[in-house]
Amino acid sequence: MDLYEYQARDLFAKHGVPVLPAIVAENPEEARAAAEKLGGLTVVKAQVKTGGRGKAGGVKLAHSPQEAFDAAQAILGMDIKGHTVHRVLVASGADIAHEYYFSILLDRSERRYLAMCSIEGGMEIEQLAKERPEALAKVPVNPLIGVDVAKAEEIVQAAGFEGAVAAKVIPVIEALWDVYKGEDATLVEVNPLVLTEQGDILALDGKVTLDDNARFRHPEHEALIDKAAEDPLEAKAKALGLNYVKLHGQVGIIGNGAGLVMSTLDVVAYAGEQYGVGPANFLDIGGGASAEVMSNGLSVILSDPDVRSVFVNVFGGITACDQVATGIVSALEQLGDAATKPIVVRLDGNAVEAGRQILKDAAHPLVTIEETMDGAAARAAQLAAGK
Ligand SMILES: Nc1ncnc2c1ncn2[C@@H]1O[C@H](COP(=O)(O)OP(=O)(O)OP(=O)(O)O)[C@@H](O)[C@H]1O
Ligand SMILES: [Mg+2]
Repeated sequence: MDLYEYQARDLFAKHGVPVLPAIVAENPEEARAAAEKLGGLTVVKAQVKTGGRGKAGGVKLAHSPQEAFDAAQAILGMDIKGHTVHRVLVASGADIAHEYYFSILLDRSERRYLAMCSIEGGMEIEQLAKERPEALAKVPVNPLIGVDVAKAEEIVQAAGFEGAVAAKVIPVIEALWDVYKGEDATLVEVNPLVLTEQGDILALDGKVTLDDNARFRHPEHEALIDKAAEDPLEAKAKALGLNYVKLHGQVGIIGNGAGLVMSTLDVVAYAGEQYGVGPANFLDIGGGASAEVMSNGLSVILSDPDVRSVFVNVFGGITACDQVATGIVSALEQLGDAATKPIVVRLDGNAVEAGRQILKDAAHPLVTIEETMDGAAARAAQLAAGK
């Protein structure tokens, strides 16, 4: 899960990373009140989960509460790379003497962490990495050791910090590591990390990605989820404990086992190519799924307005096909007249005869049984295309 800057800032503060006072505002009046409360120079910053806000006009200086009001009015509702701004962060202004860059991330291919640091911040880091790679220090971090003082010194030295500034940056890097480790992040990035005219090191911006696989260790992270921005179908599926990912096509897919579902997406994409239709989602009901799980999955997919047909592809191993068939029938019973989309079912393996018999007995007009995976994919694609 990616966090908003204001959420990252809160985590920074919690772990002792120096940040400036800041207040979230949802309308210009709140921004004015925030600027009044903070006093002096403030910065009004768009809160969107994408980069390049400054360039897009989403970061504005305000010399008075009225200017903060005007800036918020200009920024709220703005579209930045497809993200609408619903909130701004009003932060105290810093007297910037220098801008630096620091990040730590998970380097999957090397199976370790990577710290990156530069004394040439301010520029977009992708551009710096491309144009002047020697100015961006890359320091591997052993996950079993982490960033201790020695490692922080190594990072600071590799980046080219000197003397008194280096000494001040080291504890900030240690605190940022504390955020990374303590919150189970996969990315902590500060651009810019600044030196102020007063000689303080501050994190003026923050980007944090939390590892969703570690969510069980952090019940407090639940509050960071932006429910309004979440895809409503994914939220519904998550609440039901389903492995569901929304895609962009028209054929709803349910299968058992991630491998089978992935190959089902492929055959549907292939079969649908000539009609311009493709898979609408990934949904794995898992091994040993009950009728209830099947029924929940079907109800999520049928409530997707993009879906025009559904392909249920089950190879019964631990999962029994009669359970799957019962799930389909009961989902259709519950939905009643609300079920309007054709469902193509391919069952094979454990209890396949019993499963097919249940579907035949129910004789639901929306359900077609197909013998093979390719045949079912072709049929589902045709139905989605209205053929
Ligand atoms: N509190 C602040 N006081 C003074 N200047 C600031 C403050 N916050 C940001 N700035 C200035 O605005 C610039 C852009 O801010 P920031 O890094 O937050 O946004 P951005 O880099 O454009 O967005 P993103 O990180 O999403 O690409 C900074 O490099 C800094 O010069
Ligand atoms: Mg930035």
